[in-house]
Amino acid sequence: MNLSLDEKLSLVTGVGFWHTKSFGGKIKHLELSDGPHGIRKQAEGAQNNDSEPAICYPTASALACTFDTGIVGRIGDELGKESKEKGVSVLLGPGVNMKRSPLCGRNFEYYSEDPYLAGRMATSFINGVQQNGVGTSLKHFAANSQETHRMRSDSVIDERTLREIYLKAFEMTVKAAKPATVMASYNLVNGTYSTENKWMLTDVLRNEWGYEGIVVSDWGACTNLTKAIKAGMDLEMPDSFEVHKNALKKDLEEGNITEEEIDKAVYRILAAIEKYGLTDEEEAAYKAPTMEEFLAKESTKRRHELAYQASVGAGVLLKNEGILPLHPEDKIAVIGDLAVKTRIQGGGSSHINSGAYPTVLDCLKTHYPNLTFARGYDSMVLELDEVMEEEAAAVTKDAEIIVYCGGLTDLAEGEGYDRDTFKMPENQIHLIHKLMELGKKIVFLSFGGAPFEMECLEQFDSVLQMYLGGEAVAEAAVALLTGLENPSGHLAETWPLYMKDTPAYSNFASREKHVLYNEGLFIGYRHYNSRKIPVQFPFGYGLSYTDFEYDNLHVEKSEEGFLVSFTVTNTGNRAGKAVPQLYVRNFKGDFERADVELRDFTKISLNPEESKEVSFKLGPDAFQIYDVSEKKWVIPEGEYGILIGRSVEEIVLSENVYVEGVKDLSIPKPELTVSEEAGERFTITSSYAELSEYSETAKKLLDQTVEMFIQMFPGRGLDDPEVHMMLEMFKDGTADSTTLMSHGRIPYDTLYTIIDEANRNYNSGK
Ligand code: BGC
Repeated sequence: MNLSLDEKLSLVTGVGFWHTKSFGGKIKHLELSDGPHGIRKQAEGAQNNDSEPAICYPTASALACTFDTGIVGRIGDELGKESKEKGVSVLLGPGVNMKRSPLCGRNFEYYSEDPYLAGRMATSFINGVQQNGVGTSLKHFAANSQETHRMRSDSVIDERTLREIYLKAFEMTVKAAKPATVMASYNLVNGTYSTENKWMLTDVLRNEWGYEGIVVSDWGACTNLTKAIKAGMDLEMPDSFEVHKNALKKDLEEGNITEEEIDKAVYRILAAIEKYGLTDEEEAAYKAPTMEEFLAKESTKRRHELAYQASVGAGVLLKNEGILPLHPEDKIAVIGDLAVKTRIQGGGSSHINSGAYPTVLDCLKTHYPNLTFARGYDSMVLELDEVMEEEAAAVTKDAEIIVYCGGLTDLAEGEGYDRDTFKMPENQIHLIHKLMELGKKIVFLSFGGAPFEMECLEQFDSVLQMYLGGEAVAEAAVALLTGLENPSGHLAETWPLYMKDTPAYSNFASREKHVLYNEGLFIGYRHYNSRKIPVQFPFGYGLSYTDFEYDNLHVEKSEEGFLVSFTVTNTGNRAGKAVPQLYVRNFKGDFERADVELRDFTKISLNPEESKEVSFKLGPDAFQIYDVSEKKWVIPEGEYGILIGRSVEEIVLSENVYVEGVKDLSIPKPELTVSEEAGERFTITSSYAELSEYSETAKKLLDQTVEMFIQMFPGRGLDDPEVHMMLEMFKDGTADSTTLMSHGRIPYDTLYTIIDEANRNYNSGK
């Protein structure tokens, strides 16, 4: 394709929010849409939650609990087909960032605290989508583990931890599924923005892992196209209205970048356009369906059924003292606002506009027409309401069982900000204590994208955790509660007891620029299990209405590594699904290492009394660690354990094996080094919040913007998830991106004036 120099300089930066350029139809273009658990196709200029009707599947934190790569692949496949129908060329997902702390506001969009599980899930998802000729975007590369200061925080991590934990799921997925795009994250990694990080984008991603697709910036993450392209990024999104292009052009003229370097990015974008793009005519011919038209489609019904199956498979039965499944003759009272405002997803860029499906209350009513109900609390505030509480107590009068619907509400978690507490919302805590006093049996039907401290856990008779289970979550929850379906979800993350027990407690989301990952390799169960810290619920845990027995473990040496087989039998009286997990107990040498690590898993269906043989193949990577001094993966020679577990804490079969490799390996504990930037205190990567401390102009703009958001979203309040995210973006994002995203409301030159003003005042001590 013959593009002029000017066109090439233009192609590396998007047009509008969602497209690459087509130069008046000269070439096809890409349309990129969020993702990941549905399609958020938007018209230009639409507000965040204003998108075309689409199917909303369970979010990643729920999907991972299925431990079922098959269903994740089917969802990918249907999303690929739906993307094709909607003219979407690249679906922005999945996210494989590690859950470093339960408080990350965006954990609901990520699979796990374990890279192996996340990598397997993402691989199936991407293969499913991409087999339809639709691309994906593996995000957010990398070490994007918090929302606080997400565009400016520097994740300071030693290389071994990066390789074994934070890059591992990316590595597995890039190699196994070849995503069309990888999205470079907002944050810095060891002092360099991900979009400008040559070590990550070129040395590791391309040269070591063999990645051939395009690297796209997270939206607004690129502030310097020259540095980014030189580092290996290809496409800046969204539009930077010629500002970055002009700077790139100037750099080219001044010899800071060559045309060949720009060509590399251009060719990769053209290759992606060739494979996944569409013509301007195709785009113009597309007409979005109305919600009514969308809901009437056969494919919508089929996909809703898939969303239901996925949510059923994801629901985790955390506790059951015999009241579940409910009996048809039980007298129940339903309490909780989430029974009528059932949470199906989290807030932010993944927000899907799906049809209105029955709520938990609607679904329960079909089984229990005489049930009683009260909201008990208002999910959109934190303050308790005594009148609502009284009402709740009153409606339970004749009930034997209370089904309490609660957990994390929309206020608690969302993109752009982290949770400020591990506890449940105060009004729910108060209400739960009140309900406990009534002396009834209580089932907790729990929602939320991440773990929290379950108030009065020991006093609940049963707990079913649905996470954010997508548009069919209410139907799935009620099918599980009533025994129409048998729970088979297992936790893809640890539920700690207290915040102070969590590995990154001392420095997660610190307001400091540099976030030191001092806990190193020990995140999630690697921390709790190795250090024997008691938890609410361990990684891999989940109950069923039936029982499974494990026996007959055989471990055989094979050419590649080991062949492991064993038998699982359903010893209960109903059909169910077991999730056997294989952990390796590591050899301990002169280096840090978690006690055990997940190395394989599967999900199998078993009828009563049925047995099935499960087999796993273990390759060398099941034993490897990254030797930083030699810059390679090595196996420390020694004795390892092959463990089969129901969870990381409940190992049912085990055998020791001797694995050959490097003898007497020694790896010193890493030191973290913080890179300080030289130069002026304020630059275009400072935030408006920072600038406003030293610039009156910035302060005025900030105040005006808060006012503007209040007007834009009447009656919604500043803690509404959509408003909250937008506001954080404005206050706390880089001033470069927020200025550009203001679409000219703040002229870019004003930003230079503000930066000068702030630096002047800072330097003169004002
Ligand atoms: C998010 C990405 C998302 C993009 C486009 C960003 O703010 O971090 O995950 O894909 O916006 O909406």
